Amino acid sequence: MLLNRVESALMNNPVRAAIQRRFEARRLLRMGGPMRGGRALEIGCGRGVGTELILDVFGAQAVDAFDLDPRMVALARRRLRERAPRVRQWVGDASAIAAPDARYDAVFDFGIVHHVPDWRRALAEVHRVLKPGGRFYAEEVLAAFILHPVTRRLLEHPLEDRFDEDAFAAGLEAAGLVPVATDRLWRGFAWFVADKPRSAAAG
Ligand SMILES: C[S@@+](CC[C@H](N)C(=O)[O-])C[C@H]1O[C@@H](n2cnc3c(N)ncnc32)[C@H](O)[C@@H]1O
Repeated sequence: MLLNRVESALMNNPVRAAIQRRFEARRLLRMGGPMRGGRALEIGCGRGVGTELILDVFGAQAVDAFDLDPRMVALARRRLRERAPRVRQWVGDASAIAAPDARYDAVFDFGIVHHVPDWRRALAEVHRVLKPGGRFYAEEVLAAFILHPVTRRLLEHPLEDRFDEDAFAAGLEAAGLVPVATDRLWRGFAWFVADKPRSAAAG
């Protein structure tokens, strides 16, 4: 689901970028460690701040990134044009990721899976495109925030079948991903690191 005008303004400004850089990415880095090379995918890349962090903070060699909103992809392309050889962007849907199986060493989700109506399918897609042994880093917004009366008035999210921390962790496991670290802020926000097992037997 695309962002409404209020959320678009909340996402596309320097304060949001600073929070993502100083707080969210650092927390995921502490939980899951760096990549040290390899190819990453960012789902729902917005205007491209996350892609910069995946390159500069997590140490990916290359990042593919997509977003459902063509305007976001245009902003991300402009922001990242000097990184062109290492970055590729497209308009796409996390429910049907346009990438082959076992393509990526890591997948990053900076607050987008809660925008996907069939979020379990998005997690299954993350599992499909990860290499065996690959890592999923996710920062997510939980049902308590999405369904709060004030948030419901201001923002637009799918409202059916939203997840709390436990339901998201169960969704990761149902998709075949093994949670290795979780963290939470209030009842509204959570961070997850989960791995795709190296072999079916290991899972
Ligand atoms: C809350 S914003 C986060 C954007 C960016 N990751 C950030 O942290 O600034 C959610 C983003 O997910 C995108 N989005 C929503 N549904 C999507 C889907 N099914 N597939 C891919 N992107 C989606 C929206 O267009 C928006 O850019």
